[in-house]
Amino acid sequence: MLNLIIFGPPGCGKGTQSARLSCRFELVHLSTGDIFREKVRQGSDLGSLLSGYMNKGELVPDGIVLREIYMATTTDKEVSGYIFDGFPRTIMQAVALDRIMGERNSSLDIVFSMKVEKDELLARLLGRGEDSGRADDSSEIILKRINVYEQYTLPVKDYYVKQGKLVQISGMAPVKVVSDRMAAVVDFYRKNGVIPEVTPL
Ligand code: AP5
Repeated sequence: MLNLIIFGPPGCGKGTQSARLSCRFELVHLSTGDIFREKVRQGSDLGSLLSGYMNKGELVPDGIVLREIYMATTTDKEVSGYIFDGFPRTIMQAVALDRIMGERNSSLDIVFSMKVEKDELLARLLGRGEDSGRADDSSEIILKRINVYEQYTLPVKDYYVKQGKLVQISGMAPVKVVSDRMAAVVDFYRKNGVIPEVTPL
């Protein structure tokens, strides 16, 4: 199996890059945001609970997130790997993911940490908000999401630095350039079994 995480602030391009890499490497793309938006769309009680957090730009509690991830990773038995997009977002989620992977006799391989300047994040998400229909793509909630990321999610980066799995990638370049840089890291890893010492910025 090959298991990747795409990590970074709102609007850095996690979803865009996960979609491209999942096609390129035939991996299952698991986006917690997409899973939750689908629950909201279905109009269940869980959906209305989730929208209460998401529409305010707050994190969904770990217990709910982990139950959804656990279910998503146990239904597909025969997969060649996963791309986790927007997960984990807390240390507790990161620890739980290691455990879940261990139960599948697998482990995480590479964590891509994307960096994009704040002005660019805002511009991208406000642009998307014009037709995305996402209730959390307003300037007030975008800023809240960025603050929540900096306060609760950014510390998760260190967890993966300590594991030697983190690769920094600039998300400021055009979409295809970013994908090609990530794919080059994955290709090197598959060939050599280690992350390249010199990785793209
Ligand atoms: P989630 O759906 O994960 O949202 P997010 O992290 O805020 O990220 P976005 O989807 O807004 O952005 P992205 O980084 O995927 O960028 P994208 O590719 O779309 O989470 C939503 C909410 O769900 C959270 O706030 C929370 O409430 C809850 N939640 C989810 N997961 C959770 C968890 N694990 N724990 C707790 N709560 C959780 O691109 C954005 C725009 O930029 C697009 O228009 C795109 O076309 C454009 N773009 C992308 N790349 C480029 C580029 N290189 N150049 C120019 N434009 C680009």
